[in-house]
Amino acid sequence: EKIHNEIFKNSTEASVIVAQEIAELIKSKEKQNKSCVLGLATGSSPIKVYEELVRMHREEGLSFSNVITFNLDEYYPMTKENNQSYHYFMNQHLFNHIDIKPENIHIPDGTVAIEELNQYCIDYEMNIKNAGGLDFQLLGIGRTGHVGFNEPGSHINSGTRIITLDHITRVDASSDFNGIDNVPKRAITMGVSTILRSKRIVLMAWGQNKADIIKRTIQGDISSEVPATFLQNHANATFVLDQSAASEL
Ligand code: GLP
Repeated sequence: EKIHNEIFKNSTEASVIVAQEIAELIKSKEKQNKSCVLGLATGSSPIKVYEELVRMHREEGLSFSNVITFNLDEYYPMTKENNQSYHYFMNQHLFNHIDIKPENIHIPDGTVAIEELNQYCIDYEMNIKNAGGLDFQLLGIGRTGHVGFNEPGSHINSGTRIITLDHITRVDASSDFNGIDNVPKRAITMGVSTILRSKRIVLMAWGQNKADIIKRTIQGDISSEVPATFLQNHANATFVLDQSAASEL
C-alpha cells in the first residue's frame, strides 16, 4: 500500500490541516504569479475545510483571485438553482464567501441536453488541461468506494462522463432528497483518470460508517470493484482520517 495515512482525533482538527495545505499552495502559486488549480468535492466531508478557507479569507486576507476550480461531479439532470444541486452547495459553503472570479469556477452542468453531453464532457477535460491540470484534488469517499461519482465498475482510464448511480449511493442520498424516489438516477463525474492526473490528492473520511470502505480502499486489491483503490497507484495521495474512520486499519 502506497497511500500515506494521517489520523486525527476529530474531523475539525483534520480539516484545519487540510485547509492550511490548500492555503499554502494558493499563496505559493500566487508568489510565482501562477494560477492554482483546485479540484473540489461536495458531500459532508469537506464542509469544515471550506469553513476554514472562508475564515482565512475573512480574517487573514487569503485571496482566491488566482484560483481556478473544477468540481468533481453533479447530479443529472439537475438545475443550478435546485438546493440539492452541487452548484448550490458550492455557492453556500464556499464561492459566495470568497473573492474567486466567477469565470474561474467550473462545475459539471446538470442541464446539458443528453445529445450534447459527450462533447460537454470532452470540453470539461480540455478545460482542466488548458488550465494547466489539477494541482490539488480534494476527495470524499462513498460507501461503495466511489470517488467523485465513479461507482464500482469504473475503469482506471475513465474520463469525465455520465454514469448511473449505485443503489447504495442513492440510499445514502435519500434523506437529502426526501426519499429515494427523488434521488436522480444519474450524474456527470470526472473520471478515475481525471482524478489520478492531479499532482496531489487528499481524500478525507470521517466516522465509523466509513471504516469498512477505508479498510478495503487502503488494504484491498486494486480493482474497479472499489474505484478508490486506484489511488494506491498515485505517487502523492494522502488519506486524512478521524479515529473512527481509521478504526479498522
Ligand atoms: C457524494 C459525492 C462524493 C462524496 C460522497 C461522500 O456521493 N458525489 O464526491 O465523496 O458523496 O459523501 P459524504 O462526504 O457526505 O460522506
